[in-house]
Amino acid sequence: MVEVSGQSKPKAVYQRAYAKINLTIEIFNRRPDGYHEVSMLMQSVRLWDDVKIVAAQTPEIHMSCNIPFLKADEKNIAYRAAKLMQERFSIQQGVLIELGKQIPIAAGLAGGSADAAAVIRGMNRLFHLNLSAAQMMQIGAEIGSDVPFCVIGGTCLATGRGEKVQRVKPMPDAHIVLIKPNFGISTPWAYEHFDQKAAETRPNEGKMLEAIERRDLAAVGRELVNMLEPAAIQEYPVIAQIKEDLLHMGAAGAAMSGSGPTVFGLFSRYDQARAAVRLCKGKYPWRYQVMCCRVYSPVGRRRNGKGQ
Ligand code: C5P
Repeated sequence: MVEVSGQSKPKAVYQRAYAKINLTIEIFNRRPDGYHEVSMLMQSVRLWDDVKIVAAQTPEIHMSCNIPFLKADEKNIAYRAAKLMQERFSIQQGVLIELGKQIPIAAGLAGGSADAAAVIRGMNRLFHLNLSAAQMMQIGAEIGSDVPFCVIGGTCLATGRGEKVQRVKPMPDAHIVLIKPNFGISTPWAYEHFDQKAAETRPNEGKMLEAIERRDLAAVGRELVNMLEPAAIQEYPVIAQIKEDLLHMGAAGAAMSGSGPTVFGLFSRYDQARAAVRLCKGKYPWRYQVMCCRVYSPVGRRRNGKGQ
Protein backbone atom coordinates (compact mmCIF):
# COMPACT_ATOMS: atom_id res chain seq x y z
CA MET A 1 0.00 0.00 0.00
CA VAL A 2 1.34 3.41 -0.93
CA GLU A 3 0.31 6.62 0.77
CA VAL A 4 1.72 10.11 0.74
CA SER A 5 3.38 10.14 4.14
CA GLY A 6 3.38 12.77 6.86
CA GLN A 7 1.06 15.28 5.32
CA SER A 8 -2.09 16.98 6.41
CA LYS A 9 -2.88 18.98 3.30
CA PRO A 10 -3.00 17.69 -0.28
CA LYS A 11 0.24 17.52 -2.18
CA ALA A 12 0.40 18.37 -5.85
CA VAL A 13 2.78 17.79 -8.73
CA TYR A 14 2.85 19.57 -12.06
CA GLN A 15 3.94 18.11 -15.36
CA ARG A 16 4.08 19.46 -18.87
CA ALA A 17 2.63 17.12 -21.48
CA TYR A 18 4.42 17.95 -24.73
CA ALA A 19 2.84 17.40 -28.14
CA LYS A 20 4.68 15.50 -30.88
CA ILE A 21 5.02 15.50 -34.63
CA ASN A 22 6.10 12.58 -36.81
CA LEU A 23 9.07 13.11 -39.10
CA THR A 24 8.46 9.72 -40.71
CA ILE A 25 5.78 7.03 -40.47
CA GLU A 26 6.46 3.76 -42.24
CA ILE A 27 3.75 1.12 -42.07
CA PHE A 28 4.28 -2.59 -42.63
CA ASN A 29 1.86 -5.48 -42.20
CA ARG A 30 -1.30 -5.65 -40.12
CA ARG A 31 -0.63 -8.05 -37.25
CA PRO A 32 -2.94 -10.78 -35.93
CA ASP A 33 -3.69 -8.55 -32.90
CA GLY A 34 -5.10 -5.87 -35.24
CA TYR A 35 -2.23 -3.41 -34.86
CA HIS A 36 0.05 -2.43 -37.73
CA GLU A 37 3.79 -2.93 -37.50
CA VAL A 38 5.32 0.55 -37.83
CA SER A 39 8.58 2.44 -37.77
CA MET A 40 8.31 6.13 -36.89
CA LEU A 41 10.64 8.99 -36.11
CA MET A 42 8.90 11.09 -33.47
CA GLN A 43 9.72 14.58 -32.25
CA SER A 44 8.41 16.51 -29.23
CA VAL A 45 7.47 20.13 -29.80
CA ARG A 46 7.15 23.11 -27.45
CA LEU A 47 3.37 23.00 -27.29
CA TRP A 48 2.06 21.45 -24.12
CA ASP A 49 -0.87 20.71 -21.83
CA ASP A 50 -0.45 21.60 -18.16
CA VAL A 51 -1.18 18.63 -15.96
CA LYS A 52 -1.64 19.09 -12.22
CA ILE A 53 -2.10 16.02 -10.04
CA VAL A 54 -3.28 16.37 -6.45
CA ALA A 55 -3.31 13.48 -3.97
CA ALA A 56 -6.79 12.97 -2.51
CA GLN A 57 -7.71 11.49 0.85
CA THR A 58 -10.39 9.29 -0.72
CA PRO A 59 -9.73 6.56 -3.34
CA GLU A 60 -11.67 8.13 -6.24
CA ILE A 61 -10.07 9.59 -9.33
CA HIS A 62 -11.48 12.94 -10.41
CA MET A 63 -10.63 14.95 -13.47
CA SER A 64 -11.30 18.51 -14.49
CA CYS A 65 -10.46 20.14 -17.79
CA ASN A 66 -10.57 23.60 -19.34
CA ILE A 67 -12.32 22.09 -22.37
CA PRO A 68 -15.89 21.31 -21.27
CA PHE A 69 -16.72 18.74 -23.98
CA LEU A 70 -13.65 16.59 -23.29
CA LYS A 71 -14.59 13.41 -21.45
CA ALA A 72 -13.25 13.43 -17.89
CA ASP A 73 -13.90 9.78 -17.07
CA GLU A 74 -12.78 6.24 -18.13
CA LYS A 75 -13.07 7.36 -21.77
CA ASN A 76 -10.17 9.73 -21.21
CA ILE A 77 -6.76 8.09 -21.58
CA ALA A 78 -5.28 10.23 -18.76
CA TYR A 79 -7.96 8.93 -16.40
CA ARG A 80 -7.15 5.36 -17.45
CA ALA A 81 -3.46 6.00 -16.78
CA ALA A 82 -4.27 7.12 -13.21
CA LYS A 83 -6.49 4.08 -12.65
CA LEU A 84 -3.81 1.69 -13.90
CA MET A 85 -1.13 3.32 -11.71
CA GLN A 86 -3.45 3.11 -8.69
CA GLU A 87 -4.21 -0.57 -9.26
CA ARG A 88 -0.69 -1.67 -10.25
CA PHE A 89 0.95 -0.09 -7.20
CA SER A 90 -1.90 -0.60 -4.72
CA ILE A 91 -2.20 3.12 -4.12
CA GLN A 92 -5.00 3.64 -1.59
CA GLN A 93 -5.44 7.32 -2.30
CA GLY A 94 -7.21 8.81 -5.28
CA VAL A 95 -6.07 11.78 -7.31
CA LEU A 96 -7.53 14.94 -8.77
CA ILE A 97 -6.19 15.55 -12.26
CA GLU A 98 -6.48 19.08 -13.62
CA LEU A 99 -5.87 19.31 -17.35
CA GLY A 100 -5.06 22.65 -18.89
CA LYS A 101 -5.27 21.75 -22.56
CA GLN A 102 -3.57 23.70 -25.29
CA ILE A 103 -2.80 20.80 -27.64
CA PRO A 104 -5.60 20.42 -30.22
CA ILE A 105 -7.74 17.30 -29.72
CA ALA A 106 -7.94 14.36 -32.22
CA ALA A 107 -5.22 16.18 -34.13
CA GLY A 108 -2.40 13.64 -34.62
CA LEU A 109 -0.27 15.49 -32.06
CA ALA A 110 -0.53 12.84 -29.29
CA GLY A 111 -2.26 15.25 -26.89
CA GLY A 112 -4.11 12.45 -25.07
CA SER A 113 -1.05 10.18 -24.96
CA ALA A 114 1.06 13.07 -23.63
CA ASP A 115 -1.49 13.71 -20.85
CA ALA A 116 -1.46 10.00 -19.93
CA ALA A 117 2.35 9.96 -19.84
CA ALA A 118 2.33 13.08 -17.66
CA VAL A 119 -0.06 11.35 -15.22
CA ILE A 120 2.28 8.32 -15.04
CA ARG A 121 5.34 10.54 -14.40
CA GLY A 122 3.38 12.69 -11.98
CA MET A 123 2.01 9.80 -9.91
CA ASN A 124 5.51 8.28 -9.84
CA ARG A 125 6.68 11.45 -8.10
CA LEU A 126 3.62 12.08 -5.97
CA PHE A 127 3.63 8.58 -4.47
CA HIS A 128 7.43 8.14 -4.38
CA LEU A 129 7.32 5.00 -6.53
CA ASN A 130 10.89 5.38 -7.85
CA LEU A 131 10.01 3.85 -11.20
CA SER A 132 12.60 4.04 -13.95
CA ALA A 133 11.74 5.58 -17.33
CA ALA A 134 11.69 2.04 -18.79
CA GLN A 135 9.16 0.89 -16.17
CA MET A 136 6.93 3.91 -16.81
CA MET A 137 7.13 3.29 -20.55
CA GLN A 138 6.08 -0.32 -20.03
CA ILE A 139 3.00 0.84 -18.12
CA GLY A 140 2.32 3.45 -20.78
CA ALA A 141 2.35 0.76 -23.49
CA GLU A 142 -0.64 -0.89 -21.78
CA ILE A 143 -2.69 2.26 -22.36
CA GLY A 144 -1.69 3.36 -25.87
CA SER A 145 0.98 2.91 -28.53
CA ASP A 146 2.25 6.53 -28.34
CA VAL A 147 2.37 6.75 -24.54
CA PRO A 148 5.88 5.22 -24.06
CA PHE A 149 7.36 7.85 -26.39
CA CYS A 150 5.52 10.59 -24.50
CA VAL A 151 7.05 9.38 -21.21
CA ILE A 152 10.53 10.42 -22.37
CA GLY A 153 9.94 12.70 -25.40
CA GLY A 154 12.66 14.29 -27.51
CA THR A 155 13.70 12.71 -30.81
CA CYS A 156 13.02 8.96 -30.89
CA LEU A 157 12.62 6.00 -33.20
CA ALA A 158 9.47 4.03 -32.37
CA THR A 159 8.95 0.50 -33.69
CA GLY A 160 6.66 -2.49 -33.03
CA ARG A 161 3.18 -0.95 -32.85
CA GLY A 162 4.94 2.26 -31.79
CA GLU A 163 5.65 1.22 -28.21
CA LYS A 164 9.30 0.20 -28.62
CA VAL A 165 11.13 3.48 -28.29
CA GLN A 166 14.77 4.39 -28.55
CA ARG A 167 16.32 7.81 -28.43
CA VAL A 168 18.24 9.10 -31.46
CA LYS A 169 20.28 12.27 -31.98
CA PRO A 170 18.20 15.42 -31.38
CA MET A 171 16.61 17.05 -34.37
CA PRO A 172 17.98 20.46 -35.43
CA ASP A 173 15.90 23.33 -34.04
CA ALA A 174 13.17 24.74 -36.25
CA HIS A 175 10.12 26.97 -36.16
CA ILE A 176 7.18 24.64 -36.58
CA VAL A 177 3.92 25.98 -37.96
CA LEU A 178 0.98 23.72 -37.05
CA ILE A 179 -2.38 23.91 -38.79
CA LYS A 180 -5.25 21.86 -37.39
CA PRO A 181 -8.35 21.88 -39.61
CA ASN A 182 -11.80 22.07 -38.00
CA PHE A 183 -12.34 18.31 -38.03
CA GLY A 184 -10.69 15.44 -36.19
CA ILE A 185 -9.35 12.10 -37.44
CA SER A 186 -9.32 9.15 -35.07
CA THR A 187 -6.30 6.84 -35.04
CA PRO A 188 -8.42 3.71 -35.73
CA TRP A 189 -9.98 5.47 -38.77
CA ALA A 190 -6.56 6.40 -40.16
CA TYR A 191 -5.22 2.85 -39.83
CA GLU A 192 -8.44 1.27 -41.14
CA HIS A 193 -8.27 3.42 -44.27
CA PHE A 194 -4.52 3.00 -44.71
CA ASP A 195 -4.03 1.95 -48.29
CA GLN A 196 -0.78 0.16 -49.10
CA LYS A 197 -1.19 0.91 -52.83
CA ALA A 198 -2.03 4.60 -52.42
CA ALA A 199 0.90 5.07 -50.04
CA GLU A 200 3.47 4.75 -52.82
CA THR A 201 6.28 6.59 -51.09
CA ARG A 202 8.04 4.95 -48.18
CA PRO A 203 10.17 7.06 -45.89
CA ASN A 204 13.92 6.65 -46.11
CA GLU A 205 14.65 6.41 -42.41
CA GLY A 206 18.41 6.09 -42.96
CA LYS A 207 18.52 9.34 -44.92
CA MET A 208 16.35 11.10 -42.34
CA LEU A 209 18.67 9.98 -39.53
CA GLU A 210 21.68 11.19 -41.52
CA ALA A 211 19.99 14.56 -42.08
CA ILE A 212 19.31 14.80 -38.34
CA GLU A 213 22.93 13.93 -37.50
CA ARG A 214 24.19 16.58 -39.95
CA ARG A 215 21.71 19.04 -38.38
CA ASP A 216 20.58 19.77 -41.92
CA LEU A 217 17.02 21.12 -41.67
CA ALA A 218 16.58 21.40 -45.45
CA ALA A 219 17.33 17.67 -45.80
CA VAL A 220 15.05 16.83 -42.84
CA GLY A 221 12.31 18.73 -44.66
CA ARG A 222 12.90 16.78 -47.88
CA GLU A 223 12.72 13.42 -46.10
CA LEU A 224 9.35 13.94 -44.33
CA VAL A 225 7.02 11.06 -45.28
CA ASN A 226 3.85 9.88 -43.52
CA MET A 227 2.31 6.76 -45.05
CA LEU A 228 -1.04 7.52 -43.36
CA GLU A 229 -1.28 10.74 -45.38
CA PRO A 230 -2.58 9.56 -48.82
CA ALA A 231 -5.77 7.98 -47.40
CA ALA A 232 -6.40 11.04 -45.23
CA ILE A 233 -5.92 13.35 -48.24
CA GLN A 234 -8.37 11.28 -50.28
CA GLU A 235 -11.04 11.95 -47.67
CA TYR A 236 -9.90 15.50 -46.77
CA PRO A 237 -8.13 17.16 -49.74
CA VAL A 238 -7.52 20.32 -47.69
CA ILE A 239 -4.58 18.48 -46.07
CA ALA A 240 -2.74 18.52 -49.43
CA GLN A 241 -3.69 22.18 -49.91
CA ILE A 242 -2.21 23.18 -46.54
CA LYS A 243 1.01 21.29 -47.32
CA GLU A 244 1.34 23.09 -50.62
CA ASP A 245 0.67 26.47 -49.00
CA LEU A 246 3.33 25.91 -46.32
CA LEU A 247 5.92 24.93 -48.95
CA HIS A 248 5.07 28.06 -50.97
CA MET A 249 5.58 30.13 -47.84
CA GLY A 250 9.15 28.88 -47.48
CA ALA A 251 8.86 25.73 -45.36
CA ALA A 252 11.81 23.33 -45.67
CA GLY A 253 9.21 20.56 -45.67
CA ALA A 254 5.61 19.90 -44.68
CA ALA A 255 3.66 16.76 -43.72
CA MET A 256 0.63 15.52 -41.86
CA SER A 257 1.41 14.57 -38.27
CA GLY A 258 0.47 11.10 -36.99
CA SER A 259 -3.04 10.07 -37.97
CA GLY A 260 -3.86 13.68 -38.82
CA PRO A 261 -5.39 15.98 -39.64
CA THR A 262 -2.80 18.50 -38.36
CA VAL A 263 -0.25 19.55 -40.98
CA PHE A 264 3.09 20.99 -39.90
CA GLY A 265 5.72 22.95 -41.78
CA LEU A 266 9.37 23.26 -40.72
CA PHE A 267 10.89 26.72 -41.07
CA SER A 268 14.50 27.74 -40.43
CA ARG A 269 13.54 31.42 -40.27
CA TYR A 270 11.27 32.91 -37.63
CA ASP A 271 10.05 35.74 -39.89
CA GLN A 272 8.92 33.24 -42.52
CA ALA A 273 7.16 31.11 -39.91
CA ARG A 274 5.35 34.18 -38.50
CA ALA A 275 4.35 35.26 -42.01
CA ALA A 276 3.02 31.74 -42.70
CA VAL A 277 0.94 31.87 -39.49
CA ARG A 278 -0.50 35.26 -40.52
CA LEU A 279 -1.28 34.12 -44.07
CA CYS A 280 -2.87 30.84 -42.97
CA LYS A 281 -5.00 32.60 -40.32
CA GLY A 282 -6.26 34.88 -43.09
CA LYS A 283 -6.83 32.14 -45.62
CA TYR A 284 -8.44 29.34 -43.62
CA PRO A 285 -11.71 29.44 -41.67
CA TRP A 286 -11.44 30.88 -38.16
CA ARG A 287 -12.10 27.48 -36.63
CA TYR A 288 -8.83 26.16 -38.00
CA GLN A 289 -6.16 26.30 -35.28
CA VAL A 290 -2.93 27.89 -36.48
CA MET A 291 0.08 28.02 -34.17
CA CYS A 292 3.82 28.20 -34.15
CA CYS A 293 6.27 26.54 -31.78
CA ARG A 294 9.80 25.13 -31.68
CA VAL A 295 11.41 21.76 -31.27
CA TYR A 296 11.44 20.42 -27.69
CA SER A 297 14.53 18.53 -26.69
CA PRO A 298 14.76 17.21 -23.11
CA VAL A 299 18.37 16.01 -23.53
CA GLY A 300 20.48 17.42 -20.74
CA ARG A 301 17.42 17.86 -18.52
CA ARG A 302 16.38 15.48 -15.77
CA ARG A 303 14.75 12.55 -17.49
CA ASN A 304 13.83 10.21 -14.66
CA GLY A 305 10.29 11.45 -14.38
CA LYS A 306 11.27 14.28 -12.05
CA GLY A 307 11.87 16.88 -14.72
CA GLN A 308 9.33 18.70 -16.85
O1 C5P B 1 -2.54 2.10 -29.39
P1 C5P B 1 -3.66 3.04 -29.65
O2 C5P B 1 -4.77 2.93 -28.63
O3 C5P B 1 -3.23 4.44 -29.85
O4 C5P B 1 -4.29 2.58 -31.03
C1 C5P B 1 -5.57 2.97 -31.44
C2 C5P B 1 -5.96 2.16 -32.65
O5 C5P B 1 -5.17 2.56 -33.79
C3 C5P B 1 -5.75 0.68 -32.55
O6 C5P B 1 -6.86 0.04 -31.96
C4 C5P B 1 -5.59 0.27 -34.01
O7 C5P B 1 -6.84 0.23 -34.64
C5 C5P B 1 -4.84 1.45 -34.60
N1 C5P B 1 -3.38 1.23 -34.61
C6 C5P B 1 -2.84 0.35 -35.54
N2 C5P B 1 -1.48 0.16 -35.55
C7 C5P B 1 -0.67 0.83 -34.70
C8 C5P B 1 -1.21 1.73 -33.76
C9 C5P B 1 -2.58 1.91 -33.75
O8 C5P B 1 -3.54 -0.26 -36.34
N3 C5P B 1 0.65 0.63 -34.76
